[in-house]
This record gives sequence, C-alpha cells and structure tokens, in this order.
Amino acid sequence: MAIERIIDASIHDDDADEKRIEVTLRPKSFDEYIGQDRLKNNLKLAIEASKKRGEPIDHVLLYGPPGLGKTTMATVIANEMGTNIRVTSGPAIERAGDLASILTNLTDGDILFIDEIHRLGRTVEEVLYSAMEDFKLDIMIGKGPAARSVRLDLPKFTVIGATTRTGALSAPLRDRFGLIHRLEFYKPDEITNIIIRAANILGSKIQPGAAQLLSTRARLTPRIANRLLKRVRDYADVNGDGIIDIPTAEAALVLLEIDTLGLDPGDRNLITSIIDNYGDNPVGLNTIAALTGDEATTIEDFYEPYLLQIGFIERTPRGRRVTTKAFKHVGRFKVEAENQQKLV
Ligand code: ADE
Repeated sequence: MAIERIIDASIHDDDADEKRIEVTLRPKSFDEYIGQDRLKNNLKLAIEASKKRGEPIDHVLLYGPPGLGKTTMATVIANEMGTNIRVTSGPAIERAGDLASILTNLTDGDILFIDEIHRLGRTVEEVLYSAMEDFKLDIMIGKGPAARSVRLDLPKFTVIGATTRTGALSAPLRDRFGLIHRLEFYKPDEITNIIIRAANILGSKIQPGAAQLLSTRARLTPRIANRLLKRVRDYADVNGDGIIDIPTAEAALVLLEIDTLGLDPGDRNLITSIIDNYGDNPVGLNTIAALTGDEATTIEDFYEPYLLQIGFIERTPRGRRVTTKAFKHVGRFKVEAENQQKLV
C-alpha cells in the first residue's frame, strides 16, 4: 500500500523502528500474552503432552486477519518449549533449494515459522509437506539422464505456519498440520490491558480512561492498539506534559482522522463508494477494488475482516453488501429500490 495508514494492521517492512518496538512489546510467555484464551489452552495442552513424551509438538497452522499475534504466538510457543525458532516467509523461500538449506540447518525440536505460508510456490510446497510428514527430504541431484533422487534424514522439527487465509492453502499442505487455529479479534477489555502493558514497557503514563478510549479505536487488534499508543504518546509529549489523558487522546485521534469505531478515511471511502455507486446491492470484490483503487487482496485481508466483524459489510452469494448500520455511520440514507436501480 502506497499510503501509510495507522489502522493498517500489516507490519511495514521498511520501518525498522516499528519492527524494533513491536519486538520489545511482544509477550514472551503465555502468562504475559493477553487474550486468545482458547488458543492458549489448546497450545498449553499440546506443549505439556509433547514435553511428557519428549517429542516436538505437532505442526501448527495459525490463521486470521493481520496484527492479531500469529508471529507473537509462534515465539511464545518456542519459549514455552525451550526451543529455537527460525523465522521465514512464503515469498522468501523462492526455490526448493532455499527450503532444503533451511531444513538441513535445523536441529531436533526446532521450530520453523513460515509467515504468509499461502504464498509458497507449488514445488517448494511439495518438498515441505513430505518433510513435515516423515522428516525426510527428497531432492534431485543433477540434470537430464544423469539426474537422481536422494533422500536425506531431517531433524524432528515443528512447522508453525501463519496465513491470513486458509482457503488459499492447498489441501495436502493443510492436512499436514495437527493443530489448526484461528486467531480471533480481541475483546475491548483485552485491548485496554494490552495498551496499559505497552505503555508501562515504553515508560509512558496513560490514564485508564484514555487506554479505554484508545481500545475502542484500535479495531480489536493489538498491533493497531500499540501503533495508536505511540502516535498518541508523541502528541502528549509535544503538546502536553507527556501524560496521556482522555482530552489528549481525543485530540490526537481527531488529528489522525480515526473515528469512534476506529475507521479511517480509507474505510469510510470504501463504504461511501459502494453506497454511492451500488446502494445496498451486493457488489463483487473486484468491483470494490476498482472503486477504491486497491488490490482485491488488500480489501479482503485488511479492510474487510474488521468491517465484517462490526457488521458494516455482509457477505452474500452475489457479493459484499453494505448494511444499514454502515449507512448510518457514514451519514448516508438508503434510497428507494427504484432510485437505487438508476444509481447502478
Ligand atoms: N502485545 C501485542 N499483542 C499482545 C498480547 N496479545 N498480549 C500482550 N501484549 C501484546
């Protein structure tokens, strides 16, 4: 995305400062990790059982919208298991040889975290799932008539895969994961606690009411909550005495153009564009992308999950529909069916 959006839950790869702070704030154990209780309970059980048996845990697939803590959870699992974690991503593993080099450098019990696992190429994916299944690596050596296949033993490792979409994963790859879990949006109270915890780590003073206010604007997403906190902290340092109280938080949010539900101008533009062109008729994803000038995958991964969560958009067999709630929020009125036809 060309324009940096504060409510964009993706991590900005080119922003070293953001990455550093995210790593600082990242919880290291289940006790520090706020929220996702069901997932934590399932993982605790799997970890305890595998420790008892002296084996690595089953491969884990974590899916859900960006910013909810998939990478964080992978590092927590490694810490709780007391093992090393090697972090990579689908697009970074271009060739089967890249994967072979990663796999042969692992040791027993290591965790291999593959972010955006749905973006692995087909041949790499095939090498990966046989490695996950029986800890063997089949590679071809040489070309043409002299080519032969060799089978190498691999250490007993665990793959933790992360994806925004399980649908984009091939069935054979998905089937290799023993634990498949969705990360849910957080509850507002959990986001408030995450903000208070982050403020403590950053050495910022925040009043509980201000933390609560920010939690209503953070799209139920920790990464956005922490990013908002940092921007509001800047505002408090520049325009006040550094203490984040409710008026400071409110003023900073106005400046950031983030409304009462955490929507920014980009979200509001998406909703009003659909309304102005299609009313409350269903619209296809590609049409929405053409209206806003975004990629269809950006709409699907970044805008839509939260808009679905708060009931502003519905998915129908004929496309996405804007709901009455969303009409009200952006100050539009539904027009009669006859007039709507003219709009289309
Ligand atoms: N920072 C980001 N996500 C968090 C979480 N789930 N718990 C505590 N701190 C966090």
